[in-house]
Amino acid sequence: MKVEDIKKILVVGAGTMGHGIAEVAAIAGYQVYLSDISQDILNSALERIRWSLSKLQERGQIKESTDSVLSRIKPVVGLDKSVSDADFSIEAAPERLDIKKQVFSKLDELLPPHAILASNTSSLPISRIAEATKRPEKVVGMHFFNPPVLMQLVEVMKGDKTSDETAKITYELAKKFGKQPIMINKDIPGYIVNRILGGINIAACILVEKKIADFKEIDAVARYKLGFPMGVFELMDYTGIDVAYYVSKSREELGIKDDIPICSLIEEKFKNNELGVKTGKGFYTYPAPGKYVKP
Ligand code: 3HC
Repeated sequence: MKVEDIKKILVVGAGTMGHGIAEVAAIAGYQVYLSDISQDILNSALERIRWSLSKLQERGQIKESTDSVLSRIKPVVGLDKSVSDADFSIEAAPERLDIKKQVFSKLDELLPPHAILASNTSSLPISRIAEATKRPEKVVGMHFFNPPVLMQLVEVMKGDKTSDETAKITYELAKKFGKQPIMINKDIPGYIVNRILGGINIAACILVEKKIADFKEIDAVARYKLGFPMGVFELMDYTGIDVAYYVSKSREELGIKDDIPICSLIEEKFKNNELGVKTGKGFYTYPAPGKYVKP
């Protein structure tokens, strides 16, 4: 298969990342199936995509009309034969190995033999996810950043059995999406970015836990000295404290020894359902849950 043979893309999971990835693929001209477990989740994903597309239009970043881009996205409840002509799938389901394995096993059953199965996992080994399929050479990591439509970087990562062809096509697809991909040839959970970001998060958390600085002071350092576009805690709120929690937790469960420990502040927020922007409260508070405003 060549990248030019890819016509239909299936995105599994319509949450924070999935809806944005579907939007990126549709803007690039692909026919997209967007699948999730309920119609409500899909409706809210389509609303978010519509909002984002109109913003991009307002700012002259896309020429095509919102309706025209949206017409290429077909929402699908669940996973069944209606998606069985997809040439490439990108999974953006919750960050749990058992869920991802279930999804990949189903995709392996439904999708044609030439289809590539990519995962947007933040932290799980691609080789472990690939075990759920009979085509591990076609399973690959394709890691986007939030919000996918604005973030340029995509990490492409090979599992132990991923073929060079699969990795190359995935890299080329990211280019077709207008992104700047990097290729990682070794299956390291967390890719490159989350390894670095995880280290920064924990360093920041320790300073707060030891009462050396409060989180707002650390965010000021990140923004005004380190040159980050968002503070460390602000970014955790933005991406989702559940994501930060699952990233650490899943690595721990997999027995990864060189791991970054879970920070008690993250654990506490997670247990209190203070997940950041999505619930209206994380480290900061947000007046309208689901809508990010600079804290
Ligand atoms: N679609 C379209 N437009 C959007 C948008 C979206 N999804 N999100 C924001 N915008 C628009 C805003 O509405 C605003 O437009 P306006 O001025 O017309 O109202 C414009 O973009 C700029 O937004 P902001 O005013 O909020 O200002 P910023 O300059 O800070 O840009 C940002 C926003 C690009 C998100 C920037 O803050 C940023 O780069 N933040 C860091 C994000 C990041 O690091 N993401 C990676 C997280 S790690 C990850 O995802 C990996 C995972 O595995 C954990």
